[in-house]
Amino acid sequence: MPVEVQDNHLVKVFITGASRGIGSAIATLFSENGYTVIAPNRDELDLSDIVSVREYISRNSNEIDILINNAGINPLQGIREIEHENYLEIFQTNFFSCIELIQWCVPYWQAKRSGTVINISSIWGKISKPKRLLYGATKSALDNITKNLALELGEFNILVNAIAPGFINTELTRINNSIEDLEKIKEQIPLKRLAEPREVAKLAFFLGTQNSFITGQTIYIDGGYTCQ
Ligand SMILES: NC(=O)c1ccc[n+]([C@@H]2O[C@H](COP(=O)([O-])OP(=O)(O)OC[C@H]3O[C@@H](n4cnc5c(N)ncnc54)[C@H](OP(=O)(O)O)[C@@H]3O)[C@@H](O)[C@H]2O)c1
Repeated sequence: MPVEVQDNHLVKVFITGASRGIGSAIATLFSENGYTVIAPNRDELDLSDIVSVREYISRNSNEIDILINNAGINPLQGIREIEHENYLEIFQTNFFSCIELIQWCVPYWQAKRSGTVINISSIWGKISKPKRLLYGATKSALDNITKNLALELGEFNILVNAIAPGFINTELTRINNSIEDLEKIKEQIPLKRLAEPREVAKLAFFLGTQNSFITGQTIYIDGGYTCQ
């Protein structure tokens, strides 16, 4: 039997939030391996603004193979601080925009009978911590639609999974935790360190390029933190 050779540059990977952090590492890893990466910046696609999302969708082709919903915000707020605008903004950015982008891609995937969604969730969708009220809710919602869409879209060979990182060494983590907090956190992680963004990127790369039968799962990449 001839070995099937795939021309990686023909595979299109669409990723949000690739300007830095985990998204940048994922985009770099796919690019290094020859994949075509489409990574609009916030000026081209502002996920907090439904008008911007819909305009982007109406102006651009949905012929992409792997959709990675990575961008996210995590303003630290508890029940006594949040206002209506706060939950509209975080749900629009972290959750509703993901739905819009998946809806955009499904007709193409349905026609070609394959497609891949990778939603970047968080451990705070499973466990909780003060001031992650809305953030955790958006990530639980993302985990839930990951299962639901795996059921609805499985017959078209569309694989839908989520990656739930723990503490990753990015700007978001450094903004939301002081240096002293991070030292204490490291002690609480079984592997005794934060992960680097590249480690999350490797998991996304596996799900995008090697996976053929995992669907509907949220995969925790947290050094064992949520096992405790
Ligand atoms: N870091 C962690 O430890 C950790 C843990 C669990 C889950 N996560 C999740 O992993 C994902 C990436 O996190 P990160 O730590 O890499 O974050 P980050 O360093 O703060 O980067 C966030 C990315 O999202 C983009 N973004 C934010 N709001 C946007 C908007 N309205 N429109 C378009 N783009 C927007 C940012 O673009 P700009 O450059 O324009 O701001 C940036 O590229 C997020 O979903 C986060 O919830 C991270």
